[in-house]
Amino acid sequence: MSQNNTSGISSKQLEALQQKARAVAANAYAPYSHFRVGSALLLEDGNIVTGCNVENASYRLTTCAEQSAIAAAVALHGPALRVRAAVIANLNNASSQPCGACRQTLHEFSSATTEIFFPAQDGSLTRMTMHDLLPAAFRLNTDNA
Ligand code: THU
Repeated sequence: MSQNNTSGISSKQLEALQQKARAVAANAYAPYSHFRVGSALLLEDGNIVTGCNVENASYRLTTCAEQSAIAAAVALHGPALRVRAAVIANLNNASSQPCGACRQTLHEFSSATTEIFFPAQDGSLTRMTMHDLLPAAFRLNTDNA
């Protein structure tokens, strides 16, 4: 991917984001699945924010890496932030497409062209736009409420 990078971000930026996503995955709290995930967000203002998965004995309370990165980004940079690119990595040499809930969470702070990079089934790094990942995202329309 980095050698044939057709995305809006540079190969250097992509490599830096991948490195940060892998680094934060080492902090994952994953005693149940042992699946250590990291996510690095490049914000429109150039800031990079990372997050990892945090599991819980009550399994459904687990926080995914993408969700913890978004929460950290809002805490650090405020509610107006926008995501330019998100990179997901894991330390298990496995594919890790963002789950459905994470797609919706990323969507909240993304545009249709926000780029999401993740390790695919065949081991390559896949790039998809936010729109392609979640074409029919939920939008709250309270106009007629
Ligand atoms: N996980 C993520 O961090 N992101 C996703 O998009 C999918 C799954 C985590 C949650 C859990 O700790 C582990 O991966 C196995 O599902």
